[in-house]
Amino acid sequence: MDINDFKGRSVFVAGGSSGINLGIARAFAACGANVAIASRSPERVAGAVAELRGLAAAGARIEGYSADVRDAEAIAAALAQAHEAIGDFDVLVSGAAGNFVAPALGMSAKGFRTVIDIDLNGTFHVLRGAHQFLRKPGASVISISASQAYNPTRYQAHVCAAKAGVDMLTRVLAMEWGPEGIRVNSIVPGPIGDTEGMRRLAPTPEATQKFVASVPLGRMGTTAEIADMALFLSSRHAQFVTGAVIPVDGGSSLGGGRDLSAALTA
Ligand code: NAP
Ligand code: COA
Repeated sequence: MDINDFKGRSVFVAGGSSGINLGIARAFAACGANVAIASRSPERVAGAVAELRGLAAAGARIEGYSADVRDAEAIAAALAQAHEAIGDFDVLVSGAAGNFVAPALGMSAKGFRTVIDIDLNGTFHVLRGAHQFLRKPGASVISISASQAYNPTRYQAHVCAAKAGVDMLTRVLAMEWGPEGIRVNSIVPGPIGDTEGMRRLAPTPEATQKFVASVPLGRMGTTAEIADMALFLSSRHAQFVTGAVIPVDGGSSLGGGRDLSAALTA
């Protein structure tokens, strides 16, 4: 299989209706795959499905489901319907996430729990729920992490804790599922331009400039560059890669945790 040939393969992207995750769905659709996405908003799902159908190979199936990853039963139902439509998943991406910038003392218990529930528990629900539908051997499972997983960052207690947990899930499930021929990895995007995540972390031109200045390669990344790593991880060129947490960030996480004070909301 060529790195860009996913014809006839099946891909499920949780959180696939916008931003980085939609970029990943786009790349697989453009490489010939059948693609299913799920997120909360039916309108966003419908918009993304329409766009993806415009990119898809003739005969490829593109499907979308409205489900909240915090609800294990709802996501299980979406996974089952997607499996019915596109068959065993060759690629599973878990990328749904939530974020806001606030000090720990500015977060209620519910605020902290909300991000843990979406990012960490949601990833468990997606991976645990999808296991029965993964191609064995051969499936590539990818969770979308963030550098907060290893760079302690002020005003990101919830995200730091949640994404560190996501990367531990990656490592543990790589060990548990490796014998079945399932590989499990995390991609750690750096600052990616024109995304909701960056709008939250850098809400002003000055804050954006500060982010750019902190990237050794001197620019923000693109959603297509994150998608390229997802294609690589799911290709024959990465068949011995599992349990890896891979930054795709222009070197931005080398400098440690960021100063997000300009984005404080509480
Ligand atoms: P985004 O556009 O807001 O993407 C989040 C996606 O997840 C949306 O499709 C959203 O759709 C869905 N979602 C949110 N909560 C959900 C829930 N409870 N259940 C199901 N789906 C849910 O954000 P993004 O900036 O592209 O971020 C995507 C991923 O990259 C995240 O995992 C984020 O942590 C990671 N990341 C981003 C950056 C960056 O620079 N942007 C950097 C590092 C890591 P609905 O609203 O329809 O649910
Ligand atoms: N500061 C402190 N607490 C905040 C907050 C902020 N800026 N924004 C939300 N919260 C708290 C709320 O106050 C609430 O707690 P409370 O009821 O005790 O006050 C809790 O978080 C849940 O908020 P709610 O709006 O009810 O949650 P939701 O489930 O509708 O939305 C979010 C979840 C808050 C993460 C929302 O921003 C979201 O849906 N984000 C998805 C998109 C995104 O974040 N993309 C970037 C990915 S990196």
